[in-house]
Amino acid sequence: MPSTLSTTLLTLLTLPSAHAWGTLGHTTIALIAQNFLHPKAVAYTQALLNDSTPTYLANHATWADSYRSTAEGAFTSVFHYIDALDAPPASCEVIYERDCPEEGCIVSALANYTARIRDEELSWDDRNKALKMVIHFTGDIHQPLHTENTAVGGNRINTTFDGRLGNLHRVWDSSIIEKLVGGFNMSFAQAWAFNLTTEIRHGEYRRQRRGWLKGMELEEPVGTAMVWANDANDDVCTTVLPEGVEGVEGKELGGAYYQAAIPAAKSEVAKAGYRLAAWLNLIATGKAGLPKGLKVHKRSPQPANVLPGQSFEWTAAVLEKRLAVRAARAEAELCGHEC
Ligand SMILES: *[C@@H]1O[C@H](CO)[C@@H](O)[C@H](O)[C@H]1NC(C)=O
Ligand SMILES: *[C@@H]1O[C@H](CO)[C@@H](O)[C@H](O)[C@H]1NC(C)=O
Ligand SMILES: *[C@@H]1O[C@H](CO)[C@@H](O)[C@H](O)[C@H]1NC(C)=O
Ligand SMILES: *[C@@H]1O[C@H](CO)[C@@H](O)[C@H](O)[C@H]1NC(C)=O
Ligand SMILES: *[C@@H]1O[C@H](CO)[C@@H](O)[C@H](O)[C@H]1NC(C)=O
Repeated sequence: MPSTLSTTLLTLLTLPSAHAWGTLGHTTIALIAQNFLHPKAVAYTQALLNDSTPTYLANHATWADSYRSTAEGAFTSVFHYIDALDAPPASCEVIYERDCPEEGCIVSALANYTARIRDEELSWDDRNKALKMVIHFTGDIHQPLHTENTAVGGNRINTTFDGRLGNLHRVWDSSIIEKLVGGFNMSFAQAWAFNLTTEIRHGEYRRQRRGWLKGMELEEPVGTAMVWANDANDDVCTTVLPEGVEGVEGKELGGAYYQAAIPAAKSEVAKAGYRLAAWLNLIATGKAGLPKGLKVHKRSPQPANVLPGQSFEWTAAVLEKRLAVRAARAEAELCGHEC
């Protein structure tokens, strides 16, 4: 194993700043996902989480960060990232065989914990943990620096952000999005999740959202997670390190760098939330992407573990068609109490 990987492991275990998205990112992603869950997936996740409060997914979105710092959960630290041994800004790519070591990475972890959610032979407690892992790692894998080896995922790059010393990893976990949103508690997360959900349904991301579901198949969790990892890793070359490490080391990033980072940071959070919903819909119903309020076709619902993996393209196409046909009614149903 290259020494950079053990260094990464050591640093991620010891640095408190190495959490993936901070509270705001993880909570927002889970709240967006709640808005797109199929009613059966709502029931399924509420039962597995033993939580039917209005923030039932979001309440558990950062559990995996606490678990990793317990003795029992220490082995899961390596599951929060994949260290792409690429060469930004010249080339960005995650390659599973090269970048996911034997002890595991975020991609293998998403596959493992997805399988464990679905394994009804496991105890409720194990499946509960597995669901909390999937909620968290689907967020983490959309943080570009969790798919990058350079400088220990940016942890070794000192920067300032609005005058505060910190490292680049932290800037991407928290500083950029907290400045954009204005705070990090549940109220801010709810407001932001409402904004991004609306942009997904009717606005900025309306045309992109179908592409976000490409390559998603329940029976191909590694391939699915690799699409997500490569999406986020692309941002490393274009937005995180466009001029290499020299472009950010020792620099103030709260100005032009922040402005340039907003579109990628927003879109990764929106994507993560939408994809998390689709993934949980697949697990719970065998179908992805059916938004809240849209009536389920009589023959559609099947337990996920009875059907073979349903392709995402298929579901997205069906969904788009139904939406077009029933536009006006679907609109009202989709919005629920929100618009
Ligand atoms: C579920 O939640 C209830 C209420 O918070 C609690 O009393 C109960 O012990 C929980 N069950 C499990 C299995 O954690
Ligand atoms: C899957 O998760 C379980 C429970 O955390 C763990 O014991 C096991 O080592 C994991 N397997 C892999 C291949 O990561
Ligand atoms: C970055 O900051 C840390 C702590 O402030 C310091 O120990 C380290 O030497 C700095 N690294 C560089 C490359 O300036
Ligand atoms: C979040 O912070 C804002 C401003 O600091 C405050 O008004 C609000 O009540 C807080 N919300 C929660 C849920 O703590
Ligand atoms: C979401 O927030 C952005 C500012 O970040 C704003 O321009 C946009 O209009 C908001 N969208 C909705 C639907 O409120």
